[in-house]
Amino acid sequence: MQKIQIQTAAGKSKILIGEDFQQVGEMVPAGRAVIVTDDNVAALYADRFPQAPVIRIGSGEENKTLGTVRKIYEALIESGADRSSTIVGIGGGIVCDVAGFAAATFMRGAGLGFVATTLLAQVDASVGGKNGVNLRGYKNIVGTFRQPDFVLCDPSVLSTLPAKEVTNGLAEVVKHGAIGDRDLFAYLETYPDAARSLEKGAVERMVSASVTLKAGVVRRDEKEAGERRVLNFGHTLGHALEKVTRMSHGEAVSVGMAAASEWAVERGLIPEEEARRLPRLLERLGLPVRAKADPRALMDAIAKDKKREGNRIHFVFLRRIGEAVVEPMDLADAEEMVQSAFSAPGSGGGRSRPNPDIS
Ligand SMILES: NC(=O)c1ccc[n+]([C@@H]2O[C@H](COP(=O)([O-])OP(=O)(O)OC[C@H]3O[C@@H](n4cnc5c(N)ncnc54)[C@H](O)[C@@H]3O)[C@@H](O)[C@H]2O)c1
Ligand SMILES: [Zn+2]
Repeated sequence: MQKIQIQTAAGKSKILIGEDFQQVGEMVPAGRAVIVTDDNVAALYADRFPQAPVIRIGSGEENKTLGTVRKIYEALIESGADRSSTIVGIGGGIVCDVAGFAAATFMRGAGLGFVATTLLAQVDASVGGKNGVNLRGYKNIVGTFRQPDFVLCDPSVLSTLPAKEVTNGLAEVVKHGAIGDRDLFAYLETYPDAARSLEKGAVERMVSASVTLKAGVVRRDEKEAGERRVLNFGHTLGHALEKVTRMSHGEAVSVGMAAASEWAVERGLIPEEEARRLPRLLERLGLPVRAKADPRALMDAIAKDKKREGNRIHFVFLRRIGEAVVEPMDLADAEEMVQSAFSAPGSGGGRSRPNPDIS
């Protein structure tokens, strides 16, 4: 078992990796826990939940709404919860986001803990203290910063994950290696099959390296005034691809990272041979490195990104594997890159709508 602490102005967070799910009962004072989970996780793991009231939400992004949060508030009131209660989110990134939002706002702040049950939640969503819900098609447009008091990552629950959820998590693990951990990246290059099949040792390595990396970034820049932006590597284009194609988040970010590494070569930021390691690894992990999409629809989505500042976006490039640099880029330059990289619309295109993402 490994323990990683994050201390920020907003609070202290303790992340336990390789810990047994059932230990969650020990983390919360007796009688103070209220569990928030989704239908799928409840069906699989309710018998491992500690003794506590359970609030169930539906699974899927369409449930990440203020309506769901309101239902949670009402159930909290009915269960007699107060500020001294601890809301324990047991699930993937969606449960973490809504449970975190509810805990940050219920009675102006109750306790919060997570049992992260997807690879993506263990390596990314449960760590860092951001949580948000969607409104009118805008992703994560309403949210809070609230560090969870604890996060528990039990590798055994990942054995029930559908393959596409594994892919989503792997893309973020590659991102963490690429932007800040050369050893993690080299580990994935050496053991791609162990990573893909979620072998126990590989999971522990991926989760602990990812949490360590993200915790360090968040400790230094909790509210994304600077360094935290490196976590958006592959995401500016990735979010745009998610909107205009039917790609999943992980697939879209994978293509976004591959494109960003090519563009870094063109800008003379990284030697070509070093940059090639990224698409090579992504492919060995079963992730896509190219996509067909309408360049104009992509630019439209990039221009509507909430993280845009005036006519510029902060774009994350690699200087080498394990080192990222954030450069302001004019939208005109971004357009040139997007035009050169994407062919005319193919079968994947055609779902463009204004939907900026501020995760
Ligand atoms: N707050 C943040 O910092 C942050 C960071 C990254 C992503 N996110 C958010 O996280 C969300 C995506 O998270 P996700 O990929 O975990 O999706 P998710 O929570 O929807 O989980 C994916 C699916 O797997 C199911 N599931 C969960 N655990 C399982 C298990 N052990 N076995 C079988 N099935 C299981 C869920 O019911 C769901 O159907 C997005 O809404 C994204 O915006 C937030
Ligand atoms: Zn992501």
